Amino acid sequence: MREVAVIGVGLTTFGEKWDSSFRQMCVEAGIKALEDADVDGNQIDEMFVGNMSGGRFILQEHISALIADAVGLASTRHIPATRTEAACASGGLAFRQAYMSVASGMSDVVIAAGVEKMTDVDGGVTTDALAGAADREWEGIYGVTFPSLYAMIARDYMHRYGLTREQLAQVAVKNHYNGARNPIAQFRKEITIDTVLNSTLVADPIRLMDCSPVTDGAAAVILCPLERAKEFTDSPVKVLASTQATDTIALHDRRDISTLDATVAAGNRAFEMAKLERKDIDLVEVHDCFTIAELCAIEDLGFCEKGKAGIMTEEGETALCGRLPINPSGGLKACGHPVGATGIKQVCEVVEQLRGEATGRQVEGAEIGMTHNVGGTGATVVTNIFRRVN
Ligand code: COA
Repeated sequence: MREVAVIGVGLTTFGEKWDSSFRQMCVEAGIKALEDADVDGNQIDEMFVGNMSGGRFILQEHISALIADAVGLASTRHIPATRTEAACASGGLAFRQAYMSVASGMSDVVIAAGVEKMTDVDGGVTTDALAGAADREWEGIYGVTFPSLYAMIARDYMHRYGLTREQLAQVAVKNHYNGARNPIAQFRKEITIDTVLNSTLVADPIRLMDCSPVTDGAAAVILCPLERAKEFTDSPVKVLASTQATDTIALHDRRDISTLDATVAAGNRAFEMAKLERKDIDLVEVHDCFTIAELCAIEDLGFCEKGKAGIMTEEGETALCGRLPINPSGGLKACGHPVGATGIKQVCEVVEQLRGEATGRQVEGAEIGMTHNVGGTGATVVTNIFRRVN
């Protein structure tokens, strides 16, 4: 296996983007990543695009060809282009496939993108399309939605570990604080614990402000062999690990519903592959699709004991200037969650942080960062670890 580096990143703003089409968003992110890497489009050997549900959200399938065509790489060099799908981990999968393609020697310069346009359909269609990430026959058919699945996790967790409603709310408060400092974020406003506690109840105990929103957006990164990285950029970021794990698709089949075993497995594999310990990590972008998901992620990745992430958050350890900043981008909660793009956006954030370019939300002295991207309630998990190359 060859060593791999990320040499360029590109993002659209996240939000309700009624003035940009699906393909325009992906092209915008891709061009920004090419410019950032100082790579010509003709140097791209292969493309992976993460997308969860183009078929439901914009009635478009065959996303890989659509995007390769839109960027002019289908009819000129006819590069291989592949769509990856694992619900909200679709972007994470695109990154891992691109990593494996470069590491194996199959391709040299590869683009991994992610895109989703969720706001062109009404809320009922969106919620139903997202419910397709759960087990339709055994969960969806009974009316289960993602807020309600995570509400069950939250109830179980609160009952077993004594998590308070205020500690849960603090996750959203922290992520809105960070999002307010991120120019691409959907919600650039700070909130208080009272804002969360007084927001509309969605699925008890999950309130509006505990949820990630419905979002349009795209993200792209360029990868190449580490030994070639300096041809393109002075600030490459090395991929130390890229791992993936699977669990039962239905929540009720799990050994323990408030521990995501796929996060535990992917995380352990990542630390083993990177030959690092938890204390070596300077910042993490975790999959906070709901506030409870952030707390489970912190614990399941091994950054604290089970049941302690609420206290860790309450005491400011996961804040921007805390011991282990979690979601400096604002996370899915405040930055937004265009489902197919999220896994790539997390990589963009960590790369910007390690390059010292996250103006306004920079984690001082960050050298090693991690991403954690979840599909469904934890049926697919992708984790990556990155290191700044000096
Ligand atoms: N956080 C903060 N504010 C939010 C928000 C969120 N998650 N979702 C919506 N808002 C705001 C909107 O900006 C709007 O504010 P405004 O009145 O100032 O313009 C207001 O709340 C109402 O927005 P609306 O779009 O009507 O909300 P909604 O009731 O249709 O949707 C949710 C709210 C929580 C149901 C929706 O965001 C949702 O389904 N989130 C979960 C998405 C999901 O499951 N993703 C997959 C995870 S695995």
